[in-house]
Amino acid sequence: MSPAMEISTAANSSENLYEKGVKTMYENGIEHVPLKYVLPASERPNVSSPEADLVDIHLPVIDFAHLQGPNRRHALESLAHACEHFGFFQLVNHGIAEEVTERMVNVGKRFFEMPLSEREKYMTADMNAPVRYGTSFNQNRDGVFCWRDFLKLVCHPLPELLPHWPSSPIDLRESAENYAEETRALYMVLVEAIVESLGLNQREESIMKDGSQLMVVNCYPPCPQPDLTVGMPPHSDYGFLTLLLQDDVDGLQILHKHRWLTVRPIPGSFVVNVGDHLEIFSNGRYKSVLHRVLVNSTNCRISVASLLSFPFTSTVRPAACLITPTNPRRYKDTDFATFLDFIKSSDSKNKNFLHTRTVVLN
Ligand code: OGA
Ligand code: NI
Repeated sequence: MSPAMEISTAANSSENLYEKGVKTMYENGIEHVPLKYVLPASERPNVSSPEADLVDIHLPVIDFAHLQGPNRRHALESLAHACEHFGFFQLVNHGIAEEVTERMVNVGKRFFEMPLSEREKYMTADMNAPVRYGTSFNQNRDGVFCWRDFLKLVCHPLPELLPHWPSSPIDLRESAENYAEETRALYMVLVEAIVESLGLNQREESIMKDGSQLMVVNCYPPCPQPDLTVGMPPHSDYGFLTLLLQDDVDGLQILHKHRWLTVRPIPGSFVVNVGDHLEIFSNGRYKSVLHRVLVNSTNCRISVASLLSFPFTSTVRPAACLITPTNPRRYKDTDFATFLDFIKSSDSKNKNFLHTRTVVLN
């Protein structure tokens, strides 16, 4: 073999190793973060700086039971405040049984503990596949990879999709199906509250009937040098709302008033955030806020993000009632196909996609 060929084979095999994900590297006992994962100094997260520890904010907490009871008006005001000023809140008393959420996190964890040969059956570059196992943020495009493996399950319409979902672990389909149904029902009630909090009287059934639903199980294994890389780079979520279930390991941070704030897990709660579609629908009143995930050297972290929104075929636009002479339209119409084209051809980090939909006001 010529030296040039040897080098290119070596490069290919390390690229292949990265494509297989960070769980595999961790299991191989890697002691240093490969160059492929090392962020430029300006983008590193500063994990060990004392300032990062001080910045410990409590996100607004919304009590779901209050939204359903005589305090609804007050709870709607808190909801509006959280969506306007944080783009995030923690939802407690949501009524989904602990058994359902615990089983979901648990089966997600066991999926990533299976041999790579089982997991890689679902590896595909096809963004439209009903199931996708992969690594990093946007594996097909990322120059620097991030320290995350994921399993994406498209959830709607469930009966059509279930047969495509992984059949192992043996209880994955049942636990994930149950969880998907319960989160969808919760989402519908939340949408109704959000629509009302915006002062609209549109029935949520009309805007979310047959809405899209994607579940992402994220696995962030321990990382030998957590200050050189991230689990997920700063990004906003594309949907209407994301319902995030996290285990008890810290990692999620949101950008609030130019500082990164750690979202401390509240057992049994959901972290809910405004997505780009809600920012557009609300004509900019509610904000899809940048967030990122840090990794650490000791604990594996599992999270389950459910991205819910309008149907895949619909056009997303500001609600007509929220466009007035004093508050003109701030976003152009968009749709899922445009978003998919964007992520294939461009860097979707930060709020890059939403910026392409923004109307410049004079
Ligand atoms: C996401 C996300 C956060 C987390 O999946 O879009 O931001 O804590 N996840 O895993
Ligand atoms: Ni996100």
